[in-house]
Amino acid sequence: MIENEKVKKVLYGGDYNPEQWPEEIWEEDMRLFSLAGIDVVTLNVFSWAALQRDEITYDFSKLDKIMGLVKKNGLNVCLATSTGAHPAWMARKYPDILRTDNMGIKRKFGARHNSCPNSPTYRKYSVALAERLSQRYKDYDNIVSWHISNEYGGECYCENCEKAFRVWLRKKYGTIEELNRVWNTSFWGHTFYDWEDVVLPDMRSEEFSWNGVQKTNFQGISLDYKRFNSDSILECFKLERDAVKKHTPQIPVTTNLMGCYQPLDYQKWGKEMDFVSWDSYPIFGAEYSHNAMYHDVMRGVKQGKPFALMEQTPSVSNWHAYCALKRPGVMRLLSYQAMAHGGDTVMFFQMRRSIGACEKYHGAVIDHVGTEHTRVFREISALGKELKDLGDKTLGGRTPAKAAIVFDWDNWWATSLSAGPSDAMDYFGEVYQYYRTLLKMHIPVDMIGVEDSLSDYKILVAPMLYMCKDGFDEKIRSFVKDGGTFVTTYFSGYVEDHDLVITGGYPGRLRDILGIWVEESDAIPPEKTWHTFHYEHETYPAEILCDLLHLEGAESLGEYDNDFYAGMPAVTVHGFGKGKAYYVAARSSETFYNKFFDRILKEQGVEPVVTGEFETCIEATVRENEKGSFLFLLNHGESVGSVTLKQGGTDLLSGREYGPGAEVSLEAKGVALIQLKH
Ligand code: GLA
Ligand code: ZN
Repeated sequence: MIENEKVKKVLYGGDYNPEQWPEEIWEEDMRLFSLAGIDVVTLNVFSWAALQRDEITYDFSKLDKIMGLVKKNGLNVCLATSTGAHPAWMARKYPDILRTDNMGIKRKFGARHNSCPNSPTYRKYSVALAERLSQRYKDYDNIVSWHISNEYGGECYCENCEKAFRVWLRKKYGTIEELNRVWNTSFWGHTFYDWEDVVLPDMRSEEFSWNGVQKTNFQGISLDYKRFNSDSILECFKLERDAVKKHTPQIPVTTNLMGCYQPLDYQKWGKEMDFVSWDSYPIFGAEYSHNAMYHDVMRGVKQGKPFALMEQTPSVSNWHAYCALKRPGVMRLLSYQAMAHGGDTVMFFQMRRSIGACEKYHGAVIDHVGTEHTRVFREISALGKELKDLGDKTLGGRTPAKAAIVFDWDNWWATSLSAGPSDAMDYFGEVYQYYRTLLKMHIPVDMIGVEDSLSDYKILVAPMLYMCKDGFDEKIRSFVKDGGTFVTTYFSGYVEDHDLVITGGYPGRLRDILGIWVEESDAIPPEKTWHTFHYEHETYPAEILCDLLHLEGAESLGEYDNDFYAGMPAVTVHGFGKGKAYYVAARSSETFYNKFFDRILKEQGVEPVVTGEFETCIEATVRENEKGSFLFLLNHGESVGSVTLKQGGTDLLSGREYGPGAEVSLEAKGVALIQLKH
């Protein structure tokens, strides 16, 4: 879809459900799509019930008509396999398809994304449907992508999953002795004698609720369950992917991911997908850097390759408590934000607003009024024209990042399962502090996993690297020795891959690189805000956890001001080989992180893509391809703002020319896309 030779522009369109409408309306849809500059539709997302009424009876007649209609109208198709919700007859006849929740309650038919990933029935019939679809539509040269299922997610604790968990564990650990070792089952006499003793960690076994927070008695078991659950669902994707590949090996396969979605380890998923696509629904009023980080994580799971923006709402979502409208210009701004971070399509959920059930008040290209005379339709058409004029210029563009931030699902899981030292610990939040700082300083960042190569980077930031997996410390060691700068924080290096503590002093495997020993960690309750440290003549807050550490070769750059650990180091740097390793011993404030990175960026000679104040609401990113370098400038603020260009260039949206050092002024929600002159 995004590397399609025939498609020479940013594809523009989205989820289209004509099967929910009388046929008379379809031609009108085509007229409106053409008016809006729509050139791709995602079809067949929730049609399983209509396509298959029992084990052997398939009926593709309506889909045939729809496929014919959109082809005649020159539309590209992203063809879904429809397996995001199973048919009622299947649930009635084969209850193994129904999920069991973590309280042990077996669900009935209802909702969607509701099939047990280890159900033999689900796997058999989803694969059969996927294969039939690919066989039937293999000659349609307007299919630009397969869209497997829809927004895979959730968890299941049924008996099938329990059996499959044992198989998964056996494959991973080989012997029951090894299983007992990695789960440290000598604690509380948990020793397993037989694989059959193993049960899923739910509210009937290891899970419990503590002060309203979900906890587990055995982190090792729960962590492996999370890995297993993500793998089980991924297996469903792979089975369908392989089924469609049988007849259409040339059509790329994706499924729509959900950004930083905790239950699925997307870094593993990315390896199995031809390209990444994702659904972006930023909460109204959220900081723009939040959605930017989601985009960068999505680009990162495929090692920086462009992604498809598969869904966004043109105007409003229905599932927030207060469904505020996207203000004029915001849909366009967020569409370019996706492109700025590696998006090569702009797509919506949905094309026509449905009339019943829970999404009838969700935004759509065509509203209930049914005409083109709406604010939303006018904005969509204007962007449609702009993207047509832009053509293929930005397609395939990569982000030239010299800084990388580690975002690792195992760390996210392990830190949230941890019993202590603080409920305020928040892996996502910690990573986000560092990301936001660099983004606002206009520094391109790649969000990477621990298995990714570090060779392109000068700066590697791994906030709260609680679990330092086998081999990752060695990668960091070489990176720093060769001249790189490594940054990490409190609660790092404690455990290995199974959540077993590395004894001999924190931060375990990172101790020699950082040149420190963390002896203790003091949890700071959110209401206690008086802990501070000083750094370069200023005082900054020390929150969440304060590490009490000793220097073992590192130099202290700032010390705590209070409590019995006043005077102990809070920020350290250690020269290691040709590089440096920094440690920040507590959570601090945006002003601290700005100051801190100022120093590191200068040391490494990493420069922002534009100049000017970094407090601005203007986001700036660069993408590069064989056609050139493209600077995206996005004003998320409520008033006019400006930045200063380093090189000159042409704004492809307004046609304006800028010389080197020129100031670009953008109105509120305004966008510039400047092709830079070298
Ligand atoms: C998700 C789904 C869509 C729709 C939208 C509504 O992204 O994939 O089917 O439910 O949410 O926001
Ligand atoms: Zn199950």
